[in-house]
Amino acid sequence: MTYTLTTPLYYVNDRAHLGSAYTTLACDAIARYRRLRQEPVIFVTGCDEHGLKIQRTAAAAGLSPQSHCDAVSAAYRDLWHRWGVSHDRFVRTSDPRHRLVVEQFFARVEASGDVVEGRQQGWYCVACEEFKDDPHEADDPECPIHRRPLEWRDETNLFFRLSRYQDRIEELVARGDFVAPAPRRREVERFVAAGLKDFSISRRNLSWGIPVPGHPGHTFYVWFDALVGYLTALLEPEQPPRLERLEHQGWPASLHVIGKDILRFHAVFWPAMLLSAGLPLPRRVFGHGFLTREGQKMGKSLGNVLDPEVLLERCGRDAVRWYLLRDFAFGDDGDFQQQRFTELVNSELANTIGNLLNRTASMARRWFGEAVPPAGAAGRADHPLAHLAAEAGQAFDRAMDTLDFRGAAEAVLLLASRANGYLNDQAPWKRMKEEGASPAVAADLHAVLETCRCVAVLLEPLLPDLSSRMLAQLAQAPLHSGTDAREWGDDWAAARRWGGLVEGTPMPEPCPVMQRLELDSPL
Ligand code: MSP
Repeated sequence: MTYTLTTPLYYVNDRAHLGSAYTTLACDAIARYRRLRQEPVIFVTGCDEHGLKIQRTAAAAGLSPQSHCDAVSAAYRDLWHRWGVSHDRFVRTSDPRHRLVVEQFFARVEASGDVVEGRQQGWYCVACEEFKDDPHEADDPECPIHRRPLEWRDETNLFFRLSRYQDRIEELVARGDFVAPAPRRREVERFVAAGLKDFSISRRNLSWGIPVPGHPGHTFYVWFDALVGYLTALLEPEQPPRLERLEHQGWPASLHVIGKDILRFHAVFWPAMLLSAGLPLPRRVFGHGFLTREGQKMGKSLGNVLDPEVLLERCGRDAVRWYLLRDFAFGDDGDFQQQRFTELVNSELANTIGNLLNRTASMARRWFGEAVPPAGAAGRADHPLAHLAAEAGQAFDRAMDTLDFRGAAEAVLLLASRANGYLNDQAPWKRMKEEGASPAVAADLHAVLETCRCVAVLLEPLLPDLSSRMLAQLAQAPLHSGTDAREWGDDWAAARRWGGLVEGTPMPEPCPVMQRLELDSPL
């Protein structure tokens, strides 16, 4: 079965920020993990390009909406490329093909009797592109997320009859595995229990949107159009898009990963829209937490936005990926702290993992020459480090299967720490003085190098770059977890088995695999 997973489709009103990088990198780790497990994966990302917010941003920049969107979505694409993100599809909602898909989708919803005219009155946040339930009665209410004034709206437009789906959505959410993690599910349960209200799906006086067929003067509400983008992404580009083909092309999605602020759209509105259109529902929606910076919300007005371009440039892919995936519980809010970031990268990646490999490879070279030392006792499946490596693999899988990246990273780290402990206990440098380059000394070095190989193999979905640098030091071919994975048909399960290092294989000159982070100024 195809494992289709999606990031949100990012608004192009601005460049990518750390929040979008966080979701995308987490999805990248999931996609790589699934590919390594030999599952066919379709990893979807893209841009959400319509709506008032984008229309206004383009106008302020003196550009047509289309050329503004072209520029920003190209910047997103380029950024993900430089981060090494392995998406299979990049969808843009201003693509003419998407319009055809939205039209077909709407025709189905309308045929189900779920579109009615109604009057929409309320306070609207343009930055959220959303009506706010119940702003405080103040004269000038503002958006609790963006702290910007809300705009009053009173217009007649088209509504989707969400209220008809009350029971089915209640059942869906009660299923327990649809919305994750549990606090998010409870939040959705509360929202649904309060009673679902019809919501407007069209706008008048909005030119930058998809016209609603049969309803002159109306364009689709940006969220109606954006969610359908997940379907457009899957329809093969060589053929005219047809919703009937979706089920052969990777729908339903196994997983939508989103931030917690857009939970309702994905866990309530979207499934109801799909039910109405007679299409299968995604299997799971995971709402992760928000990142703050040094305890403060990130925002332009505070001037503390962490720019993924700067992070990439100054810190490199491995360091940032490690920190984001390893230090934050996926699902909870997290605080980006520069000092902790540096400490974790230096102590865990540079020391525990990188230095373990470097010092062991250096000893091996000094005492046994330029090839992998003989395995001896390290070749046995009951070697203590072989047990620990197998245990680490199991813990890693358990964690990855529940999107617990932190748990997965800790499992790898623990294996590396134990190999450090083993090396210190065995102290081959002492035995070397006593016995010279004996088979026992060779076996100890071989065992630790083999453990480093297992660490590298497990690290692949989390840190593909570091993984391949480590494997290169061990004279092993890199793994393939990116979009080329299928072509290479790597057998990850075999690579994870103890005993992959072959004695006598020439090894390259040891060099450090992980630079220490030295940040002399705030990011
Ligand atoms: N365009 C919509 C999504 C449509 S999906 C069919 C959208 N775009 S967004 O660019 O504003 O937000 C993208 C994602 O970034 C959201 O999941 C949001 O939760 C997430 N984040 C925004 N700020 C964030 C942090 N500070 N931290 C973590 N994630 C954050 O919403």
